[in-house]
Amino acid sequence: MANVVITGGAGFLGARLARDLLAAGSLDVAGDGERPLSRVTLLDRVAAPPDLAASDRVTVAEGDLAGLVAPGQAGRYALAGADVVFHLAAAVSGECETDFDLGIRANLHATEALFAACRAVGTIPLVVFSSSIAVFGGSPELPLPAVVEDRTLPNPQTSYGIQKFIGEQLLADYTRKGFLRGRSIRLMTVSVRPGRPNAAASGFMSGIIREPLAGQRAVCPVDPAAEVALASPARAIEALRCAVTSPDDVWGGRTAVTMPGLTVTVGDMVAALAQVAGPEVTSLIDWVPDPAVAGMVSGWAAHFHSDRAARLGLAPDPDFTSIIRKHLADTQPR
Ligand SMILES: NC(=O)c1ccc[n+]([C@@H]2O[C@H](COP(=O)([O-])OP(=O)(O)OC[C@H]3O[C@@H](n4cnc5c(N)ncnc54)[C@H](O)[C@@H]3O)[C@@H](O)[C@H]2O)c1
Repeated sequence: MANVVITGGAGFLGARLARDLLAAGSLDVAGDGERPLSRVTLLDRVAAPPDLAASDRVTVAEGDLAGLVAPGQAGRYALAGADVVFHLAAAVSGECETDFDLGIRANLHATEALFAACRAVGTIPLVVFSSSIAVFGGSPELPLPAVVEDRTLPNPQTSYGIQKFIGEQLLADYTRKGFLRGRSIRLMTVSVRPGRPNAAASGFMSGIIREPLAGQRAVCPVDPAAEVALASPARAIEALRCAVTSPDDVWGGRTAVTMPGLTVTVGDMVAALAQVAGPEVTSLIDWVPDPAVAGMVSGWAAHFHSDRAARLGLAPDPDFTSIIRKHLADTQPR
């Protein structure tokens, strides 16, 4: 049997991952063969979506992660019985920039508390950490290379990126010490994110598609020539699952794996939207340059070459039109 804990399990990727695992009904842990999925426990400070909360294979514990995994608390009991822990709970990039203390609490202290609790239960679970390409950045003494490769040294330029990089390093050390089996996967910016806008600095990469498709106006704060790297929700979930299913020798070490990304210009994204939904939809986009956002975006890595991810069988989305079509299929009422 496979018993799974998902922190941030009420969030966008956490809930989607839970549904995906439940639908599959079994999980291969590190190449040991498929095992029936016995339980998925969602740890989050907000309520789980009703469909998941209603499932008899799902347990929900609501509260701040650091408190939930303390001795005697529901999260600690869940970790004691877990074979696999997906650590997805985090404050998003924009929140961490505007509220430094929130980022330290949610992304650093809660992560440390989780890893310490995984160690304390003594069962050496497989722990997947959802890192981010925000670990990459450039500074005068260490500029960002034209293409980010597996050996590129992370040089984060935001609080969120720093917190993710610390999480990767901490997980690697817990793994080296034999306290758990850690695997960090750096996710691309996910587009198209359904639902309401969030406080991520990259939020416009979903907003300029999602809102016009829903008949609402959207603001694009960057130039059409701006280049970004992204992945569909399905590819992000695939990367998270791959971090569990790969045998140790195939995963290839304690350093983080960068998932593949599709590189597009923002103009390409809007052209794809016009192709799928027509020019009347793209006319709902207002191009209002925001120098602060444009400055951030120009500092992000947009070209990736990840041999490790390719060896794991991960591939980028083929093009942005397929991402939009998948978003429509996922969100339109059946
Ligand atoms: N979505 C993306 O584009 C993207 C890209 C790179 C990395 N990631 C990472 O993937 C993970 C999931 O992202 P998402 O888009 O689903 O985010 P999300 O904001 O939708 O979900 C995160 C969840 O974590 C919960 N949470 C935050 N702090 C908590 C705390 N202290 N205690 C308990 N719960 C807490 C939130 O309530 C939320 O439900 C995050 O770690 C994020 O940094 C996401």
